[in-house]
Amino acid sequence: QVKNREVEALMRKALPKRSVQILHDLGNTGDILDLAVYAVGGFVRDLLLGQENADVDVTVDGDGILFAETFAASHGCRVKSHEKFGTAVIVFPDGFKIDVASTRLEYYVSPGALPTVERSSLKMDLYRRDFTVNTLAISLNAPSFGKLIDYFGAYRDLQAKVIRVLHNLSFVEDPTRVFRAIRFEQRLGFKIAKHTEDLIKTAVKMDFLVKLGGRRLLSELVQILKEKEPINGICRMASLGLLRFIHPGLELTPELQGTLEEVRYVVSWFDLLYLERPYERWAVYFLALCERLTQEQFLDTCTRLAVSEHYRERLAEMRRQGDELVGPMERKLARGEQVENSEIYFTLRGLPVEILLYQMAKSGSSEVKRCISLYFTKLHGTRPLLKGEDLKQLGVKPGPLFREVLDVVLSARLNGKVSSKEDETALVRNLLS
Ligand code: CTP
Repeated sequence: QVKNREVEALMRKALPKRSVQILHDLGNTGDILDLAVYAVGGFVRDLLLGQENADVDVTVDGDGILFAETFAASHGCRVKSHEKFGTAVIVFPDGFKIDVASTRLEYYVSPGALPTVERSSLKMDLYRRDFTVNTLAISLNAPSFGKLIDYFGAYRDLQAKVIRVLHNLSFVEDPTRVFRAIRFEQRLGFKIAKHTEDLIKTAVKMDFLVKLGGRRLLSELVQILKEKEPINGICRMASLGLLRFIHPGLELTPELQGTLEEVRYVVSWFDLLYLERPYERWAVYFLALCERLTQEQFLDTCTRLAVSEHYRERLAEMRRQGDELVGPMERKLARGEQVENSEIYFTLRGLPVEILLYQMAKSGSSEVKRCISLYFTKLHGTRPLLKGEDLKQLGVKPGPLFREVLDVVLSARLNGKVSSKEDETALVRNLLS
């Protein structure tokens, strides 16, 4: 059995000082209201694994909303509460959040549907959770601060590195757990227990996942693709037969595996190069996953995943554009013809980073890869030295011609034909005459 002070020591090691203080303060508020307060779920799991988890989930044995409001009043926080669910979020002035729940028992009306809620004990609250490793609680009240509560053998499973459901109907109650099992297994480097894996196979065979709403399926897929090493998760989804629930035409072929490996290589190259540049890494993996699908199948996949119509059309359009633009360049290179820097620039300009990285990964041509990488590293940020004002002074009238002249100057700059402002001025004069 883990001792209270060992848990406290783990907190001091894994968490910032301020978080530890907040945990004590939460317990003190519980003491004042005579309510038992616990940290629960993923936060405790990660703490025992020596990792910080910024999502602090707290469960109160009693009225969680009253608890949250009392805490907030004495700590300068705001509260957002949901009476219907007995839950509240405490929001600190700097945006830090704590989720508060009241112990409760959820009844599931039908697989895939939202749960209805009724109040119950901590043990019942933990019993309704997905996997044993998420059922740990730590008491926060001052007299028992740090006491680890383990009703379902969670500590043993954490040590054995096992993902295990609490009961046989877990995946029937909530089919998203099939994806969660894979995500935790891959992220934590655990193994899904044999019986739990058999239950997943049964759920797959009995088509429970068909009932899963598109939004929830998308959210689970995106979370797997957002993990540090998504390929392992994709392979696991494939081996458990889950890809067909996204689209019947999805299959993990050796070619797709190759493209995914290329994506891994390309995104890590890009991340090293542009630490600060925001882009959706998961979307590059998603595009790769759908590589073999026709445009129509791709649209069906987006519909299945309840992607909004606007975004669905945009994704499909970008996919098409990527092929249409990069294809001719690839063929030209294959014929051994020269592709000038300006051609690379004007071909790739306007394509989002996600599509460019996907094209880079999927192209079998090292020349295409080189062109796209050149675009990112050198061409992308190139601008003429002449500004609009300079052009006006040279007698170019504002209008469509303006853009054309600037593009000619830019092309010359990209191809190394001009280097100074004087060169550019001479070029414009030449053009105008
Ligand atoms: N939970 C569940 N079934 C689900 C989703 C969540 O039982 N389909 C439970 C889990 O036990 C989890 C808790 O609700 O511990 C909180 O959910 P979430 O924040 O998604 O999980 P974390 O464990 O915190 O995972 P992560 O580290 O990815 O945030």
